[in-house]
This record gives sequence, C-alpha cells and structure tokens, in this order.
Amino acid sequence: TKTYNVVVLPGDGIGPEVTHEASRVLEFISSKSSDYEIKLTSQDFGGIAIDNAGVPLPEATLKACEAADAMLLGAVGGPKWGVGKVRPEQGLLQLRKHFDLYANVRPALFPSKSLLSHSPLKPEIAEGTSMIVVRELVKGLYFGDRVEADLDTPGSTGEASDMMVYNKNDVQRITRLAAALALQQTPTAKIHSIDKANVLACSRLWRRVVTETIENEFKGQVEVDHQLVDSAAMIMVSNPRKLNGIVLTENMFGDILSDESSVIPGSLGLLPSASLAGLPDGKSDCKGLYEPIHGTAPDIAGQGIANPIGTILSAAMLLRYSFGLGREADAIYKAVETVLDTPDLGGLGLRTADLGGKAKTGEVGDAVLKQLEKLLA
Ligand code: NAD
Ligand code: IPM
Ligand code: MN
Repeated sequence: TKTYNVVVLPGDGIGPEVTHEASRVLEFISSKSSDYEIKLTSQDFGGIAIDNAGVPLPEATLKACEAADAMLLGAVGGPKWGVGKVRPEQGLLQLRKHFDLYANVRPALFPSKSLLSHSPLKPEIAEGTSMIVVRELVKGLYFGDRVEADLDTPGSTGEASDMMVYNKNDVQRITRLAAALALQQTPTAKIHSIDKANVLACSRLWRRVVTETIENEFKGQVEVDHQLVDSAAMIMVSNPRKLNGIVLTENMFGDILSDESSVIPGSLGLLPSASLAGLPDGKSDCKGLYEPIHGTAPDIAGQGIANPIGTILSAAMLLRYSFGLGREADAIYKAVETVLDTPDLGGLGLRTADLGGKAKTGEVGDAVLKQLEKLLA
C-alpha cells in the first residue's frame, strides 16, 4: 500500500470548518482503496500560529509541509490580527514562495447546472461559461521591494511603495503551464492573456513573452489573445463566455479577477484552487498547495454555515494533480453536483446560505459523503 501524506492547515475563521469537511472526504476516499492510504496531519498556520508560536508559519509547520506529499489549506487572517506588523497572510506568502508555487489554477466552472438560476447574472449570460484563471503566484507586487509609510515621524513625507517585478523566465514558465492546461481542455485550447500593457512595463514584457512562448512552442495548438485588465473585468461579468478557456494573468490581477469569476457560478464559497510548482500532469511528485479561493469570512465564522464546496473541490484537485487519482477526483465533482441539484429544502437543493439555502456546513459534507458512497461502491 502506498502512503500519501497530506498536511492540513485549517487556519482561521471558517478555515477549520471547511477543511473539516474536505478532510472527511479525503479520509473516505482513503478508506475505499486498498492500493493507497491517505494520512492527514494538522498543523498551526496563520493567525492561530501567531497566537500559539508568535509567527504565522512556525518551523514545525514548515517541516511538516516539507515532509508531506501535498498541503490542504482553509484560509488565514482576520480582524483579530488586523494589518499589524506580524500578519497571518505573511505566512501564506512565505509558504507559496518557499515551495516556488508559481502557478495558481482557479477553475470557475459550473459544478451544477441548477446553479444557473442562482447566479446574480442572467441565466442566458452565465450559461456555458467555462474558464480557468491561471494566476502567477510568486512574483509581482506581492513580492517586490516594499517600503512602509512612516506616518509617525514629524516631517516624514509618509510615502509607501510596492515594486512590481517580472522577468522573462517568470512569464515563460507560467505560459507553458497555462498552455499545457489549455491542451488538456481541448477543443477549447484558448488562452486569454490579461495585462495592462498600455501603462506597465511588466505588462509589455508579459505580452511579448506570452506571445513568443506560444508562437515558438505551441504554434497551431494553442491560440492566444490579449486583453487589457480593465475591460476584461467588465467582459467577465457582461459576456463571460468570451473568456472561455484559460485566463492567464499576473499575481495581483489574478487575485482580483478570480474573486470576480466566482460571481458567475454564484458564490465565492464554491471555487477551489491548486498552487503548483510545475505542470499538473498527475504525477505524484508534484507537491501542491490546495485551497479554496475565499478567505476566513469573519462575518459568518463560528456559525457552521460556511459553504465547504470550494475546499472539498480543492481536495479533488489535490487527488488529481498531486496523486494522479483522476477517477476519485471526478467522483467528488459528480457528488458535489448531485448534492447541489438535490431537490429538497424547498427546491433550493442542499445548499448553504450563500447559495440561498438553509443547509449547515456539516450537512453539505454529509450529503457529499453519501453520494460518494454510492459512486465508489
Ligand atoms: P472573504 O473571502 O473571507 O469573504 C468575502 C465574503 O464572502 C464574506 O461575506 C464571506 O462571508 C463570504 N464567503 C467567503 N467564503 C465563504 C464560504 N465558504 N461560504 C459562504 N460565504 C463565504 O474575504 P474578506 O472578508 O475580504 O477577507 C477576510 C480575511 O480572509 C482577511 O484577513 C483576508 O486577508 C483573508 N483571506 C485569506 C485568504 C487565504 O487564506 N487564502 C484568501 C482571501 C482572504
Ligand atoms: C488569496 C488571498 C491571498 C492573496 C491573501 C490572503 C494574501 O486573497 O489567496 O486569494 O492575495 O493571494
Ligand atoms: Mn484573494
């Protein structure tokens, strides 16, 4: 029996609530196979780690992540830790950088057709949307030199700065990964590259290197077009099918556009992500970090009403990309779809409040497990 070690980083706010459900799913998948065993261990990370150890990414947590085959994260941060000197979010950036997880894959696909009626977009606008945001994750504004403003010394200008830096290799490798992903998605092998080339030097580099990489390495296989980020943000909610395929962009634009993309299926709580250091070819040596795209949702934390689906689908991505378990990942997607479509609770399906339902986090988890039991019998 092969053993897969997964470190679970529940984090803060609704993080522990949603990772609990995804962990149950992974444990269930493990129990169904005699070929492999999935071992889960939990580690402090984020705000809870600041409380217990003084830093958001303690040495013991990092060591456990290094020894593991994959990482499953809830979310970190919250009003308790504010925007002070030591912040939970620093731990997340440190973790992404440490493992060079340069590609953040955020699919905004419809897990269920019946969600169409819940999307804030008109059904005829949202229908048939199928985009995967590929966000560069370890460069750009998040990681350039930063100067905090000094607002307390009399006479100080109080100037702050954040430097955006990209080089050719950064853009090449994320383009290759996006192209490989586009090819897996045939016949929609299409990349929409998003930038701000009319203003930023980094974006002019981005546009040229994306174009050349596709031209030199994927000619005739992958099509690419370029779009400025401001109008792309508008198109994403007015005519989202125009962006079907891969939406390829830099770190900060990708952060913003991926949250926006969750409007199409109808809730931030639905979308999963994978952060990878290489091509997602289903090889078991690809250590990834898997997390929902949402945050700690302080406004609903502790109530047991968070939507666990983004985290459950992140676990499915973990199985597919880090362990090559595509059949199990497909089963999880299918189970989620069935649960969202289940015609109970007044026709709303088994949904949490963000999707207009009344179900608790644990009830959605239970229902997914029940469907999986049928699918993997
Ligand atoms: P958020 O994503 O936490 O919440 C935005 C809105 O979406 C809230 O109304 C929330 O209730 C709702 N929401 C989010 N996830 C949900 C779910 N699973 N089910 C139901 N509703 C859900 O964004 P925010 O409020 O801007 O940020 C709160 C904290 O989370 C901040 O400290 C931020 O830094 C952190 N954050 C962490 C991560 C991460 O760890 N990867 C990601 C984003 C934000
Ligand atoms: C995300 C989050 C993070 C980001 C924060 C918490 C650092 O918003 O994962 O989308 O901006 O990358
Ligand atoms: Mn974000």
